[in-house]
Amino acid sequence: MRFIFIGDVVGKGGREAVHRLVPDLRREFNAQFVVVNGENSAGGNGLTGACAKELLQSCDVVTSGDHTWDQKGFDLEIATLDRVIRPANYNRTQPGRGFGVFANPAGGSVAVIALQGRVFMKECASCPFETVDGILAGLPGYVKTIIVDFHAEATSEKLAMASYLDGRATAVLGTHTHVRTADERILPGGTAAVTDAGMVGAETSILGRGVPEVLKKFTSGMPGRLPVVETGLIRLDGVAVTYDPATGRASAIEGFSRRVEI
Ligand SMILES: [Fe+2]
Ligand SMILES: [Fe+2]
Repeated sequence: MRFIFIGDVVGKGGREAVHRLVPDLRREFNAQFVVVNGENSAGGNGLTGACAKELLQSCDVVTSGDHTWDQKGFDLEIATLDRVIRPANYNRTQPGRGFGVFANPAGGSVAVIALQGRVFMKECASCPFETVDGILAGLPGYVKTIIVDFHAEATSEKLAMASYLDGRATAVLGTHTHVRTADERILPGGTAAVTDAGMVGAETSILGRGVPEVLKKFTSGMPGRLPVVETGLIRLDGVAVTYDPATGRASAIEGFSRRVEI
């Protein structure tokens, strides 16, 4: 079987690109399950229930990251969204949940776990390594396919997580940097890994945001709005992972980028 994992969706243009491209990607890769990180899907900052539902029209599960709570009211909405998860290593008192076990339309179950790194990131309540150990220990034995979205900045921390979970997760896939890395690999224990899956955002942009505005910020040091580029050529980055549902082991991972004019 195969699943697709797509990096951070940025704004309306990113959502529209997912809507237009994912059905074709499912056919192209013969993928039965699609996970997408939606942490920037609402105007570049966070998610809303409506944005998440839009992504869920073509994808199976939406993950998030450090921007999870950027939109006012999403803390109330997340409880109603059973296919949306936020990093598991946040305070226990925070709304939402950090993982879920979902039915694969092609048969069997898929666990999706979201975690956030601690290197060069906002503080998290607890250690992602300890947290994932606890989640894996509690999963029912019949759940073999386990997808981990590790939302982190440092390549070292992401590779450490992938190695830590080698043989215990089907895939450990990085998000947050919005730049797809060319290091996709199958680790010795059968875990697929990539440091970062990339983003769904404008080709001519800086991480999905306007080039002139970002340049002004860097060259002047002054704060300012960094608008999302919503139209033009939008690039969708992701990986396709081939795995054996009986064992949860991955046998192949392929990175891809596709473009669509919005
Ligand atoms: Fe992001
Ligand atoms: Fe992020």
